[in-house]
Amino acid sequence: MFIFRQLRDSGSATYTYLIGSRASHSAVLVDPVADQSPLYLGLLAELELRLACVIDTHLHSDHLSAARTLVRHTGCAYAAGLASGIATATLGLADGDCPAFADLQLQVLATPGHTPGCITLRWEDRLLTGDALLIGGCGAAGEPGGNPGTHYDSVTKKLLPLPDELLLFPGHDRDGRRVSCIGEERQGNPLFCGISRDEFIAQDRQLPLGESARARLEANRQGGDGSLLQRPASPAASTLSTTTNN
Ligand SMILES: [Fe+2]
Repeated sequence: MFIFRQLRDSGSATYTYLIGSRASHSAVLVDPVADQSPLYLGLLAELELRLACVIDTHLHSDHLSAARTLVRHTGCAYAAGLASGIATATLGLADGDCPAFADLQLQVLATPGHTPGCITLRWEDRLLTGDALLIGGCGAAGEPGGNPGTHYDSVTKKLLPLPDELLLFPGHDRDGRRVSCIGEERQGNPLFCGISRDEFIAQDRQLPLGESARARLEANRQGGDGSLLQRPASPAASTLSTTTNN
């Protein structure tokens, strides 16, 4: 029997996913947030699961990844897309890879654009899309190496052609929506429905990256090294710190 949990970090509106197996006691955490590490460790203990791997769907600018903390506490592997730029990842994931952790079997779809290394994970009847595709939206432009045209192609050529009934679990939702499905997004996502590639590129969806977001990117290139966030912020940085990019 499998276990699936959707956990929310309210500060960053991030969704983290726990996938576990009662048979093998193996578990995977997708996009965990550093502030919530005690929650994850407690939940793993409560469910009698051993963390096999942390997977980040991309290099995040809006929150500090819990990967470094969880690797230190559990000795788990750390996986991310091959083009993520995350130096401490021990497992690089490419399009079509099917990483297995005991009886947990995932499939990797490379869905670049929001960042060059964005991946979507498929598990059973569901997709964990990170910021490639959100409910009624998608991750913002403006991340390092991001490319709106590539983002449009990833969503329209790789995700939206998938079966209607595949469940879509996003990396964020600021309105608290938790799940959608591919059919719903194909028919009603306003960023893609009836929107051409050129129109998508022309949309002004670029959020400026503030100093705190840039510091989080640096910290997350090391798997979420919180010591890199300790530098004193300039007055300008504190103004910009309210801007976050999904
Ligand atoms: Fe993001």
